[in-house]
Amino acid sequence: NKTKITLEKDFVIANVDDRLFSSFIEHLGRAVYYGIYEPEHQEADEQGFRKDVISLVRELGVKMVRYPGGNFLSGYNWTDGIGPRENRPVRLDLAWRSIEPNQVGIDEFYDWAKKTNVEVMAAVNMGTGTPKAAGEMLEYCNFPGGTYWSDLRKKNGHSEPYGIKTWCIGNEMDGPWQICHLDAVDYGKKARETAKIMKWIDDKIELVVCGSATNLLSTFPEWDRVVLEHTYEHIDYLSLHRYYENLGNDINFLASFVDMNNFIKSVYSTVEYVKSLKRSTKSVYLSFDEWNVWYQQQQTRYDWVTAPPILEDQYSLLDALVFAGMGMTLVNNADKVKIACLAQLVNVIAPIFTKNGGPAIRQTIFYPFRDISMYGRGRVLQPVVVTPSIETCYGDAPVVYVSAVENIEGNISLFCLNIGKSPVHTIELNLRSFGKMEMIFWSVLKGKDLNVRNTFENPDQIKPILKQNIDGAFDTFKLDIEPLSWNVIRFK
Ligand code: AHR
Repeated sequence: NKTKITLEKDFVIANVDDRLFSSFIEHLGRAVYYGIYEPEHQEADEQGFRKDVISLVRELGVKMVRYPGGNFLSGYNWTDGIGPRENRPVRLDLAWRSIEPNQVGIDEFYDWAKKTNVEVMAAVNMGTGTPKAAGEMLEYCNFPGGTYWSDLRKKNGHSEPYGIKTWCIGNEMDGPWQICHLDAVDYGKKARETAKIMKWIDDKIELVVCGSATNLLSTFPEWDRVVLEHTYEHIDYLSLHRYYENLGNDINFLASFVDMNNFIKSVYSTVEYVKSLKRSTKSVYLSFDEWNVWYQQQQTRYDWVTAPPILEDQYSLLDALVFAGMGMTLVNNADKVKIACLAQLVNVIAPIFTKNGGPAIRQTIFYPFRDISMYGRGRVLQPVVVTPSIETCYGDAPVVYVSAVENIEGNISLFCLNIGKSPVHTIELNLRSFGKMEMIFWSVLKGKDLNVRNTFENPDQIKPILKQNIDGAFDTFKLDIEPLSWNVIRFK
């Protein structure tokens, strides 16, 4: 029941790209309508956006938000969401069997993003959509003016171009569930031609091509290789998505980070393979643009209603611990993963949960995301960790999982997830090359009952609590951490 952690100033994995702390809003369930947008709500601003939700998104520390989907994207005609609201068509959304009123589109979303202080990561439809339509959407958003689409943006109220930098070419096109799903060769060709058009229109953008929607698909990792072979020189990132759920064994569930880590490493190896094959000097990185805990097997179905309460997982403390491990895995792979989107942001498998006409609360997963986003920016260190291991369905998992980041001010953030159950586990931390340091704070997310959730009646049942600081300056620390806990410890 002992873990030794040594941090060295010069053992650095990479600088974190701030876009690692991004999220996702899809036209799905109550994410847009009754999530970010509810004009009748007492918290609504003049455009109908909920100010209470905006302030929670800011508190979460989200850098960028992917929009408008998701599976929804593959049947979406982006022009349905522009122009006078009263003229916009009401459509069937075949992805989620819902009715889409199109009262929010790219123009409103851009305004919401500005108010919320987040960047937009836009996505173009590669299901029913064409390369031409993708180029037109980009022209509408980013071209300064004097052309049909850019002038239409101006006519619709935005004289200045949006300058959206990061664009996804489709969503999960390897998934048989996707509207107009393609095989890897067909998608690879379509994505390459779309990328050419898009970069001709705006050579400052960065493009994300669809990689594997999950490592559970039989096409993984062949899909990634084939798509990259078609697109490598034209794109900047390969996407990957992964959700985990508790299938009945808490330890396997807690070890989800082991699988996620292996997934990242395999996909990145595929990227490096194609780089060598192409004799390329260009680097392509990863965009983990959907990740979370999602109880996919427990979904309720509603047919043909607007904003149905679907995918509204209520997260427990256990889910938050698993989620923390996933977030740490992204940080620990900061040399490979440059963008990551917590899927999603409001109501739909989300850290923020609203009641129609009522309050907005923080779900349990809100806290690990906020902690990592707030304290995980800077240089990720490569810790040397000696810890016992536990056998899981993903192989051996470390009992104490560690990430460490040196922030720009020279402070160190140490994240420790303890998936062990022993009453006390001692960490011996050696900060030798940093000299003597003082503890700024130590916060912990834990609880007696792993099933507790935050509810509208009891919104603060699960939140981090501060532990007693160790006073004084030292280069080694002895820390007793509690079973099944997520710890954030900061030093200066
Ligand atoms: O985030 C929910 C769904 O999960 C998205 O629409 C899709 O891309 C993924 O399968």
